[in-house]
Amino acid sequence: MSESPAKPAYSPGLDGVIAGESAICSVQADTGLHYYGYGIEGIADQITFEQVAWLLLHGEMPNPAELKEFARQLAAGAALPPAIVQMLKCFPKGTRAMDYLRTGISALSAFDPDLGHVDHAANLRKTIRLISRMTSVTTAGWRVLHGQEPIVTGDMPLSARLLMGISGQKPEEWVVRVMDTVMNLYAEHEFNASTFAARVTASTLADIYPAIVTALGALEGPLHGGANERAMTMLRNVGLAKNAEPWVKAALAKREKIMGFGHRVYKKGDSRVPVMRQLLAEICRRKGDNTLLEVCQELERVMEKEKGLFANLDLYAAPVLNLLEIPPELNTPLFACARVAGWCAHVIEQQDHNRIIRPRSLYTGPAPRSM
Ligand code: COA
Repeated sequence: MSESPAKPAYSPGLDGVIAGESAICSVQADTGLHYYGYGIEGIADQITFEQVAWLLLHGEMPNPAELKEFARQLAAGAALPPAIVQMLKCFPKGTRAMDYLRTGISALSAFDPDLGHVDHAANLRKTIRLISRMTSVTTAGWRVLHGQEPIVTGDMPLSARLLMGISGQKPEEWVVRVMDTVMNLYAEHEFNASTFAARVTASTLADIYPAIVTALGALEGPLHGGANERAMTMLRNVGLAKNAEPWVKAALAKREKIMGFGHRVYKKGDSRVPVMRQLLAEICRRKGDNTLLEVCQELERVMEKEKGLFANLDLYAAPVLNLLEIPPELNTPLFACARVAGWCAHVIEQQDHNRIIRPRSLYTGPAPRSM
């Protein structure tokens, strides 16, 4: 009797599967998050988003001249073609931010003189426009859909431009520093779903624009980037720390996922959380109101007790952004404004050493049969 062939190895959700090589970032349960070897806790609140973006794209910290030129190029790329602003004005009221952002970035490809060129130099030029304009589309779309004119302020650092593009007010220095830290924490995270999706598209030698649009599509779901908007809804619903335990127990009894908890890699805690928790504590102290910090910490206690699960970055990003007066509907687009640096770094790395990403499936359908 012939033996049936051994089933090939299969890991649902690709859990634990090594799906490629990358020098950009390492995510480990025990040693945490590193960008090109720099531990996130050592750099997140020490350097600007421009420095982090350069590091992710070039593998080294920029020298002062490189940083100045990079900031100049990012600023120069900020303005949107008038047709894109016109297009944003055509969307119906209530269009979700991730929908106008994804569509806006896709439409911008038609205006890029390097479209269709996938060599390293062209990818770097398009990356600068993509990083700059992810923020421009996010802010312009938000203002347009709220009956206001977009504000184009290319002559300031990206985090300041992001804040001013939403509120219309020049942000205070400390707020810009907080936003830089948030952006730095969100900038890159190895083979997360959106980055992997971008690499799959890039591996067909498609342009960087469709790769980034693919990433934006993957980002919006609640199990990935969409969690930071929903975490804010949860914090509002819980309200006070004393409500956290009954609220969590009721949600778990309905088998609901608690937003901002759990992670595929970090099983003993997300290495970005201590920095973000500290940031929240500082903002709460400035505002003289610890409510959101107390709610988050109580949720952490209850989730560890009930499920053995730990907070991820999105739990603490939600209240930080809320206290900076960012509308929660922009939490996920803001994640995209930062992560676009990591996405582009990965697309470039993929296309520099390309082999098409084409895995196999384990067939579970009927055996061969006739009509
Ligand atoms: N709330 C409730 N239960 C959760 C949970 C959460 N946030 N996260 C994981 N679980 C449960 C799973 O349902 C699973 O339970 P089961 O064994 O009874 O089926 C168990 O914990 C183990 O899950 P795990 O295999 O570790 O999750 P994953 O790697 O497949 O998924 C996430 C990881 C991040 C998608 C998942 O934790 C999640 O949905 N979190 C909430 C959304 C979120 O915050 N996303 C942002 C991630 S940075």
